[in-house]
Amino acid sequence: MIDPAARPSAASIRHADRLRGSLRMPGDKSITHRALILAALATGESRVWDGSDGLDCNSTAAVLSDLGVEIERLGPPEGGMVGRLVRSPGRQGWREPADVLDAGNSGTTLRLMAGVLAGTRMRVVLDGDRSLRARPVARIIEPLRRMGATLHARAADTLPPLTVEGRSPLEAIVHRSSIPSAQVKSAVLLAGLSAHGTVEVREAVATRDHTERMLRDRGVPVTSEDADGEWIIRMEGGVTVQARDERVPGDISAAAFWLVAGAAHRDAELTLEGVGLNPTRRAIVDLLRRMGAEIREEPLATDGTEPMGTLTVSTSDLRAIDIDGADVARAIDEIPTICLAAACAAGTTRIRDAAELRRKESDRIAGIERGLGALGVRITVEGDDLAIEGQPDRPGFGMTGTEVETRDDHRLAMTLAVAGLLARGETTLDDVASAAVSYPGFFTDLERVRA
Ligand code: S3P
Repeated sequence: MIDPAARPSAASIRHADRLRGSLRMPGDKSITHRALILAALATGESRVWDGSDGLDCNSTAAVLSDLGVEIERLGPPEGGMVGRLVRSPGRQGWREPADVLDAGNSGTTLRLMAGVLAGTRMRVVLDGDRSLRARPVARIIEPLRRMGATLHARAADTLPPLTVEGRSPLEAIVHRSSIPSAQVKSAVLLAGLSAHGTVEVREAVATRDHTERMLRDRGVPVTSEDADGEWIIRMEGGVTVQARDERVPGDISAAAFWLVAGAAHRDAELTLEGVGLNPTRRAIVDLLRRMGAEIREEPLATDGTEPMGTLTVSTSDLRAIDIDGADVARAIDEIPTICLAAACAAGTTRIRDAAELRRKESDRIAGIERGLGALGVRITVEGDDLAIEGQPDRPGFGMTGTEVETRDDHRLAMTLAVAGLLARGETTLDDVASAAVSYPGFFTDLERVRA
């Protein structure tokens, strides 16, 4: 048994008899990273309102500070959101850092900043925590080298720490992504700001397009089109990014936990306010609806380019669906939670081609198999495919509380915590500190919806 005195970051979650309430989601993590980076590339002041106060976005802010950008917090954080004022001398005025740049747990910080720094005349080392040191970087090294920067990494150029010796100007390239990845696409586009000519990225599946939207908003010509079964993004290099304020919508990847909790629980109605509903991010809503989830959507007017809305989810009869590789790419961060929905749905849900889940903050296929499996979910893994046989008619959906491991992975921790609300008895998570990576107020919200 986990001794709570010896493990202060353990948590016990009791079954919830009902779920009710209205929650405001923390600021979107992906958009906050980009808003900070683009503000730092521009000369002058930009404000980022309602940004994520999670550890990952704080890593991006810290890395930018180490490069000589001033970032000031505008008031105390509230509900996982914080305002920041970014004052930058512009990329030309950044200084070479004296120390290694620490991306912490954040793959987005490391990969996007590698792209940005490839187009400067600095030599830097990017590093992170134990989890980040196990995550692949060859996927960014290859295109950035082709653009003319010099990059090296540990383990035959595959794992961080990563050294970047930038060059300016860089060459404009065409990058055809073999793995659908918004981080790789964004690294190439951000490097492309220092390139002469048109940079082109071709994707088999359209990944999140926040970088493209935000560059356009800041005066950089970017176009996207669907042609010959490919999603083609073209950006004109060598254009200066303009300073601009940004209001960040609520994180749909955070809302995902409550959408699954509310749809699966036998007595639930939950409202999630101000959630970003960008078409390249909302696959979780569409997949859950395919499973029969009742989700109401009310659009909200925004002053930015990201669509937003309020979502209300209520108790639903879920049924199994087939999820293919393209769905996995579109809902990459939400697949662990969808596995939990599948455990509560009638029939067997099959998820195919989920290899990228093994390259996240932890091997999420293994973590879900072990964690949900320990609770009693019937889950089998073959290669990178999963099959989950739902048990909708059994008490606790066939799940009984026990001790489970979160593997220091925020999305596993929150998925297993929601499983604890649905399971019979009490579920003990060995360590939930990781939730602060993307959703610092998650456990406060969990107690709120149980009330
Ligand atoms: C992100 C892209 C995705 C996602 C990550 C955030 C981004 O990663 O999993 O949480 O902000 O660009 P990949 O590009 O590796 O798929």
